[in-house]
Amino acid sequence: MTLIRTTITAAMLALALPAAHAQAKLKVGLMLPYSGTYAALGTAIENGFRLYVDEQGGKLGGREIEYVKVDDESDPAKATDNINKLIKRDNVDVVVGTVHSGVAMAMAKVAKDTGTLLIVPNAGADAVTGPMCAINIYRSSFSNWQPGYAMGQVMAKRGHKNAVTITWKYAAGDESVGGFKEAFTKAGGKVIKDLTVPFPNVEFQALLTEIAALKPDAVYTFFAGGGAVKFVKDYAAAGLKGKIPLYGAGFLTDGTLQAQGEAAQGLLTTLHYADGLNTPRDNAFRLDYAKAYKLQPDVYAMQGYDAAQMLAIGLAATKGDPSKKAEFAAALQKAKIDSPRGTFTLSASHNPIQDIYLREVSGLENKKIGIASKALADPGRGCKL
Ligand code: PHB
Repeated sequence: MTLIRTTITAAMLALALPAAHAQAKLKVGLMLPYSGTYAALGTAIENGFRLYVDEQGGKLGGREIEYVKVDDESDPAKATDNINKLIKRDNVDVVVGTVHSGVAMAMAKVAKDTGTLLIVPNAGADAVTGPMCAINIYRSSFSNWQPGYAMGQVMAKRGHKNAVTITWKYAAGDESVGGFKEAFTKAGGKVIKDLTVPFPNVEFQALLTEIAALKPDAVYTFFAGGGAVKFVKDYAAAGLKGKIPLYGAGFLTDGTLQAQGEAAQGLLTTLHYADGLNTPRDNAFRLDYAKAYKLQPDVYAMQGYDAAQMLAIGLAATKGDPSKKAEFAAALQKAKIDSPRGTFTLSASHNPIQDIYLREVSGLENKKIGIASKALADPGRGCKL
């Protein structure tokens, strides 16, 4: 009798095991900046990600989502240790991060070496979907090249013949300026000086004095977060606003307008998101986000939301198993992602192919005034999947 009971229990257990496994929670490691100049960006990404998951009843691919968080401090020197903690100590199934390109490149290296699924919800480092591309690495945001390239075309069309660039000296600044220069010089423009400050410094005074002396037709810039707030205010305070037109990748004025106030009014920027898209998809997202967080979403919130959507598409195709890399990738490769920005697809190197909007600051909005570049694809130079 005891023997029979034991046998039955073992058989029942064996049957129950696969079901129990299917029910296991999916661990998402959020590696984002929660302190420093990009802190607000990290929070917006997390909010967006959670909103999508909550809309699905807390489950993706049939698995309940559990979060583990690490503050990466936008510090590339700590990045390898931080992602290794998530993968080796916390055993996460997927890493979602980050904002800073230097940190993201260190993450991509570990993701590639360990085969861990990585979805980048902001950092534009061209290499992540270029030379470092991998079957298990995806981006829901942009490459640094994309908004810069679109703005190079816009500024040339607006008749500017020469320009000065100013940015932080790290991958995002260099590559944003690189994209800008490629398009601007192709259209006959000339860059007369590239100015930089180390990340995350915000001492702009000496460089603004230099811009005033150089008197270019226009200025192109990449700054974001707290640094962007300070730069736009300092540019106006130095008396340059209205004299030398300032343009930028749209991070310059996204999530920052409340703090920038008058100094930002009228600025033109290029980005893959804008206010006033007025599509049912974007309107619903904005309403839901505002209800959940008592805040308006920005580009970072939208990218976090889409990172969760991309994860959901891959998990739906693999019945919740992100280790099935080929099936996961095939599903995303053919997906039309229903983003608040507008529908987008992924390039062969897993970067969004997307419209880049031209936006103008009006009040507290980055109003869409046109499409600077339609279905712009990053060249993905050097990617071999
Ligand atoms: C980046 O480091 O790639 C980066 C950071 C902040 C942004 C955009 C890009 O807003």
